[in-house]
Amino acid sequence: MLKLFSALVILGLALACITSWVLDSYDTAWHPKRSVRHPAVSDGDETHWSSPPFPGGELNNIFWFIQVSDIHISRFHDPRRIPDFEKFCTDTIEVIKPALVLVTGDLTDAKTESKLGSLQHEVEWQAYHNILKKSRVMERTRWIDIRGNHDAFNIMSLDSVNNYYRKYSANQKVGSFHYVHKTPFGNYSFVCVDATLTPGPKRPYNFFGILNQTQMDLLDTFRAQSLKSNQSIWFGHYTTSTVVSPAPGVRHLMRYAVAYLCGHLHTLGGMMPVLHSRHSKGTLELELGDWMQNRRYRVLAFDHDMLGFADLKFEQWPAVVITNPKDAQYQHPGMEPLGRIRRSTHIRILAFSEAPITAVHVSVDGRPLGKGHSAGGPLYVLLWNPSLYLTGLHTITVKAEDSAGRSTVREQHFTLEDGLTPSFGFVQSFVLLTDHYIWGRVAFILTTLLNIGVLLVFRFLHIPFGRGLASQACMSLHLVSKMNTLFYSLLLFNLCTALGPWFIGELIDGHRGACFAFGVFIDGHFLEGSLTYVVGVVQLVFFNMPLTLYLCWSLHHRCRGNTFRSHFLRPGCRWRTLAVHVFMLLLFIWQVHSCYFLLETYGPMAFFLSPVRTWALGLSLLLVHYAWTGPTPLLRDNSKNMSPS
Ligand SMILES: *[C@@H]1O[C@H](CO)[C@@H](O)[C@H](O)[C@H]1NC(C)=O
Ligand SMILES: *[C@@H]1O[C@H](CO)[C@@H](O)[C@H](O)[C@H]1NC(C)=O
Ligand SMILES: *[C@@H]1O[C@H](CO)[C@@H](O)[C@H](O)[C@H]1NC(C)=O
Repeated sequence: MLKLFSALVILGLALACITSWVLDSYDTAWHPKRSVRHPAVSDGDETHWSSPPFPGGELNNIFWFIQVSDIHISRFHDPRRIPDFEKFCTDTIEVIKPALVLVTGDLTDAKTESKLGSLQHEVEWQAYHNILKKSRVMERTRWIDIRGNHDAFNIMSLDSVNNYYRKYSANQKVGSFHYVHKTPFGNYSFVCVDATLTPGPKRPYNFFGILNQTQMDLLDTFRAQSLKSNQSIWFGHYTTSTVVSPAPGVRHLMRYAVAYLCGHLHTLGGMMPVLHSRHSKGTLELELGDWMQNRRYRVLAFDHDMLGFADLKFEQWPAVVITNPKDAQYQHPGMEPLGRIRRSTHIRILAFSEAPITAVHVSVDGRPLGKGHSAGGPLYVLLWNPSLYLTGLHTITVKAEDSAGRSTVREQHFTLEDGLTPSFGFVQSFVLLTDHYIWGRVAFILTTLLNIGVLLVFRFLHIPFGRGLASQACMSLHLVSKMNTLFYSLLLFNLCTALGPWFIGELIDGHRGACFAFGVFIDGHFLEGSLTYVVGVVQLVFFNMPLTLYLCWSLHHRCRGNTFRSHFLRPGCRWRTLAVHVFMLLLFIWQVHSCYFLLETYGPMAFFLSPVRTWALGLSLLLVHYAWTGPTPLLRDNSKNMSPS
């Protein structure tokens, strides 16, 4: 009893810790404080925020660049993907003439034809390399391509022969780096966060990135260096919510950046067409939809040190970015000199098209202000009087037309008031700002405790039961827990799911490893668990728990004197009985599919050495057989049935 009690106390403490930990991450993530100022600017130096240069009628103090993400060049799927991307590199880049292009990872697809397995295909990398060479895009702009999780599948070390990134990419830099874009009017920092795994296991266990302390320290030196620049942009493949990093976390490192640009989530299969949010320190997190299926790209511009951008679709012209007045939703008051909008003389718009732009109509709050005139290059300007809009939120609408008869309407809110920034949607913020591996871990611990706890409680405690459905459930749990064969098998199975290896196999071709809930070992390296917890929860909820319940239900029938055959024939309940069997059969098939998945992704060794998948399949069959044909459970008299402890 004492042991059980102390176990309960420890459990309670653990729960309290976990809850406060989770609430902490909530707190910092979802309540922006807007008082952060650039450390290089002394406090109260309001003049900087409205000091010259002010946006005017000339093509100055502005440069623009492009982001594109998740290209997934594939030898098996979507044959249009490669020619389209080549067209992007030749035509789109020619029209927009960006100062630089950030390609934020997943250059190649690196999957098998069935899409289950993963390995690096040299032909995919060669196709990517050929596009770069044929389009000569590297001569026309600065092309910065970094690795994503797909580019790290099945790679033991960065020197491995199959790390084709080192041979075929433009950048060829592995690890994080800091690039400074120098212009006559200012210096701009671009900091790459490389959280891809080394060694890189095959899919799916590199869905989350990891940054270790060494990598965090390096990024911190980049943060310090970038303070010398006018503005800084951070970029990487993973969203910050899918990076495992030591406290205070990767978001804290990028607190002086205007924005963090990333990809990886592919608009969640179309469910979240726009995934943008803001960190507690004000940094914007802007996920970009993929090239792979959605053909997305993004044009960004620093105009007088304020960031403007538009998420666009390939070949939809004209492309329009309103840079002054900047979008109220995407302000970073701590880092951007927003006071300049109030003192600007012109509305400024970048309009690009394959055909010449013929007109740029501007209206504010529904009233036409006139037509913008070209200030050189893609910049269109229109004189305005900002003092008319000093309070509240206003809407600017721009309609750009080109000589091919196409037009684009772009509308955004702006404000000249301090602190009037619309917030982002709850779901977007949840997806981008929650450390999902923490939820996974909490949910996994709770489900495991529930599973094992129920077994232990019914084995060692005296739970009285009377009549009714709940007490019948209690009674059958009681039966399972008191039968040694069932109890120890289930206990062992659940403990193995929680602590033991799930499978042992070639996590990387030619390199053995073992997968646990808490992480993955490969050839002496350890990768902290993240997606594993989520997979673990699914395993527990869709197999371990239903199996226990099904055994309870079977025993319940047995102790009423039924056999497998006779319980089917009971009048009145036939459909319910059938439903239970079908349900269990479906879950069983699902487990069979998991085994097949294991075979496809990690090969035969993983398939045969898998306690939680393949062995569990055998175990469950044995247990079900035992429950229906083993000794009939006897419902002993309740009052004499005291706990053995
Ligand atoms: C960039 O920073 C320098 C030095 O602080 C400043 O003189 C310059 O005006 C800034 N550029 C812009 C476009 O604000
Ligand atoms: C940009 O950085 C260089 C040093 O790398 C410095 O000499 C120059 O003054 C900087 N430019 C601006 C506008 O701050
Ligand atoms: C951190 O990761 C880097 C790159 O993967 C590796 O070279 C380094 O040894 C790691 N450092 C520690 C302390 O684990």
